[in-house]
Amino acid sequence: MPDQPMSSKISYILSIESSCDDTSCAVLKNDQVLSNVIAGQKVHQQYGGVVPELASRAHQSNIVPVAHAALTQANIDKKQLTAIAFTRGPGLMGSLLVGSSFAKSLSLALDIPLIEVHHMQAHILAHFIDHGQDKPDFPFLALTISGGHTQIVKVTDYHEMEVIGSTMDDAVGEAFDKTGKMLGLDYPAGPMIDSLSRKGNPHAFQFPIPKAPHLDYSFSGFKTSVLYFIQKRVKEDPDFIKNNIEDICASVQYTIIEILFKKLEKAVKKTGIKSVAIGGGVSANSGIRERLLSQVEHGWKVFIPDFQYTTDNAAMIGISGYYKYLAQDFTDLNISATARIPM
Ligand code: KG4
Ligand code: ZN
Repeated sequence: MPDQPMSSKISYILSIESSCDDTSCAVLKNDQVLSNVIAGQKVHQQYGGVVPELASRAHQSNIVPVAHAALTQANIDKKQLTAIAFTRGPGLMGSLLVGSSFAKSLSLALDIPLIEVHHMQAHILAHFIDHGQDKPDFPFLALTISGGHTQIVKVTDYHEMEVIGSTMDDAVGEAFDKTGKMLGLDYPAGPMIDSLSRKGNPHAFQFPIPKAPHLDYSFSGFKTSVLYFIQKRVKEDPDFIKNNIEDICASVQYTIIEILFKKLEKAVKKTGIKSVAIGGGVSANSGIRERLLSQVEHGWKVFIPDFQYTTDNAAMIGISGYYKYLAQDFTDLNISATARIPM
């Protein structure tokens, strides 16, 4: 009897994400998520940012229980697994090494294929996790916005992606987090700025839109202008932050959204592609979601990920692994994690 084609077989993929400060494991049955367990790391909060050494140590203690929980919740025995997918990069080297070593050991012990996944591609492919929603057709544009990246990506196939614009300095998530630090908010400050913004006036204060060439972004000048603005106002009135926190957050968030969408609109015009998806931790932002939805009036088809698949999670690694599994695109056991890795 001839072999069944890959697409008609059922696959169970265990996926592992450990690129930054979340240890996550998921089990996918084809393109459906059976479990997606995430262990965050509170230890970084007191430092106002991720401490790489502490992150890798926490991954070391979390990875086995998180993988175990993912299998238990999925009601799958490890002997039923068909492949192991893991984040090879980009990310923090010490963190990536924990996930990749664990993935390699499992693949070797269970004698099943190993599949490497690019973290930023995974943020985009999260849109293909099947939960009954509309999925983008190729080609489409993806705005990937996270704590480490800000990119406009032209996506022509599951693993054919071209970065057509990216940040020249800070990522947009850093702009949120560093503004939060100036305002005395806990790390990561993005979600708090988002919720405070909803009660503030976005036009209360004006910040300049940075000039960056082509489809690229720049956030470092913006960050400095927010810092100087806050320092000047606090000198005049020590209670300035306390009395204006909602308006400051709303104005900062409004400007960040303007910066993001000016280039995104330019990318749509330039490529003629009106199908646009967002992804990455910052795509959880309510203002960004509303702004993207408003583009439907201008003929855009827009794709907004489910909240659980925006910030770092292993389900997105699993769906990327699934499409590589269908293409029989497997990875050698002598592979190593890579902190910087092009799309
Ligand atoms: O994708 P992610 O979980 O990790 C990285 O790969 O970086 O993104 C984390 C980033 C942080 O900068 C966090 O502040 C930001 O996503 N973030 C938000 C929101 N939720 C998370 N930023 C703005 N608004 C939000 N609601
Ligand atoms: Zn991420």
